[in-house]
Amino acid sequence: MATVVVVLLMAMGSMMVGAQQFDVVHNYAHHEGSPANSGGQGASQEYSALLKEHDRRRLASVADFPLRGDDDPTSIGLYFTQITLGTPPRQFYVQVDTGSDILWVNCDPCPGCPLTTDIKGITLQHYDPSLSTTDKILGCTDAACPIASNGAGNGACTSVGSTRACAYVTQYGDGSSTRGYFINDVLTFRQVDNSSNGNATANIYFGCGTTQSGNLLTTSRAVDGLMGFGQAQIAVPTQLAAQAKVGRVFAHCLQGDNQGSGTFVIGSILEPNISYTPIIPKQYHYSVGMENIAVDGVNITDPTSFAIGVSGGGVIMDSGTTLSYLVEPAYTQFINAITSGAPVASYRLPYSDGSTSLCWMYSGDIASAFPSVTLFFDGGVVMNLAARNYLYSVRVSSGSYWCMGWMSSTSTYTIFGDIVLKDQLVVYDNDNQRVGWKPFDCTKSIRVSAPNSTTPMDVLPGSGDGFGAGATTRLSTIALSSCLAFALLCAFL
Ligand SMILES: *[C@@H]1O[C@H](CO)[C@@H](O)[C@H](O)[C@H]1NC(C)=O
Ligand SMILES: *[C@@H]1O[C@H](CO)[C@@H](O)[C@H](O)[C@H]1NC(C)=O
Ligand SMILES: *[C@@H]1O[C@H](CO)[C@@H](O)[C@H](O)[C@H]1NC(C)=O
Ligand SMILES: *[C@@H]1O[C@H](CO)[C@@H](O)[C@H](O)[C@H]1NC(C)=O
Ligand SMILES: *[C@@H]1O[C@H](CO)[C@@H](O)[C@H](O)[C@H]1NC(C)=O
Repeated sequence: MATVVVVLLMAMGSMMVGAQQFDVVHNYAHHEGSPANSGGQGASQEYSALLKEHDRRRLASVADFPLRGDDDPTSIGLYFTQITLGTPPRQFYVQVDTGSDILWVNCDPCPGCPLTTDIKGITLQHYDPSLSTTDKILGCTDAACPIASNGAGNGACTSVGSTRACAYVTQYGDGSSTRGYFINDVLTFRQVDNSSNGNATANIYFGCGTTQSGNLLTTSRAVDGLMGFGQAQIAVPTQLAAQAKVGRVFAHCLQGDNQGSGTFVIGSILEPNISYTPIIPKQYHYSVGMENIAVDGVNITDPTSFAIGVSGGGVIMDSGTTLSYLVEPAYTQFINAITSGAPVASYRLPYSDGSTSLCWMYSGDIASAFPSVTLFFDGGVVMNLAARNYLYSVRVSSGSYWCMGWMSSTSTYTIFGDIVLKDQLVVYDNDNQRVGWKPFDCTKSIRVSAPNSTTPMDVLPGSGDGFGAGATTRLSTIALSSCLAFALLCAFL
């Protein structure tokens, strides 16, 4: 969601061990530390006693997390899946986020957690440790505590009844935060074995979130928690890989056009013709190098915009961000090129808080009328984008608009969120430290195999069954009511 990224390297309680601020707009993605300790070292990082390596070759399989949601900032603006925790198993809706690490769920007792959501067909519930027979609180003196909290909050303790628990705090890019303590319990996940789907289980550490703030409390898009797919040891895919349950490669396909479905699968991707670019070591999460942006075939940006420097740089692939945020001067160059290539004059759509959005009133086919965009990445690979990858639709009483979904990043980072990543198969290959993609119809199955296997399996997407956030009703409120309910739009416009 989109506001100011406040990066806080925090210990628990009020002790802050370091702080840094940059104005990236980041939807729930968090940076809990400096790049050096954010877990970005990926495959080179040694697993600790917390996460023992076993014989993955024999056991590892494919795990499937069917997705729902959309990339529409005026609707849900996030993709989520359903996970199963505890004994007896209970199900929770969690946002999928490649821009952060920890899995956490709203956890009782939590007077500040959201109780309801506007997302249709969803009933929120809290994880209640007292209802699970397999939960175990991670003690703050346990050797796993500093590993789970990845250095931030090392040794931090919080009281849970008579237990001194290992605490966590995570601050996201939109200023929202979650805090609580780590718990260990059983995760049940969908395992794809040849053609039959079954369940597999693993004991994992996750955050029992007892205090949420900011947009995590907004009922318009509240879910039960968030699952980070970053490279840190605490990230669920890393924990599952360390237990030989799955490999270290996963992919998502986020279906656009508000169809509300998609796939998030952990397994070796067998689809042909995927273009890969290297993950840049020691940067935030899945950072890659970009060289230029072409609009209608003409390179229009200053390539030094994307250079990796002492203060970061590069571009972050982040499923937990709805829109996209481009560094300057590339952003201004991009806007100028789109504006001059657009079929009609642009218009500043006013919002009730006095801010405006760069929009075009256009009812024709935007794919043919607006410029195409090509992103050039390290390694000579490209990503071809169409107008729907940088424009989103806004319908208000004065008419139908297409508005710019790429915002100016005031940090040194460019972030590509769902508006760019949708309708593609995007592969995060931690074994080979690379990210890849290709255009893909997310209603189709994805061909995968278990790690080091060549037996193909086809993983089907989640059902697009009308999970919407009542977009029509809320669209009108963008122009009419306060920005509080539309932090994503209002923060940037
Ligand atoms: C796959 O095989 C390679 C080479 O034998 C091995 O290093 C790697 O750990 C294996 N990966 C998994 C997930 O089994
Ligand atoms: C898939 O089927 C083959 C043949 O029946 C079998 O040998 C193999 O173990 C199966 N793979 C998995 C992951 O179950
Ligand atoms: C797998 O787990 C889900 C969630 O607990 C449950 O609804 C489903 O029945 C299970 N499937 C099998 C085959 O056990
Ligand atoms: C892969 O790319 C090559 C070269 O562009 C093309 O000839 C081939 O048809 C593609 N294969 C598939 C399955 O898309
Ligand atoms: C645009 O820049 C990319 C990356 O530097 C380069 O590969 C490509 O040839 C350039 N295209 C044109 C038309 O100059």
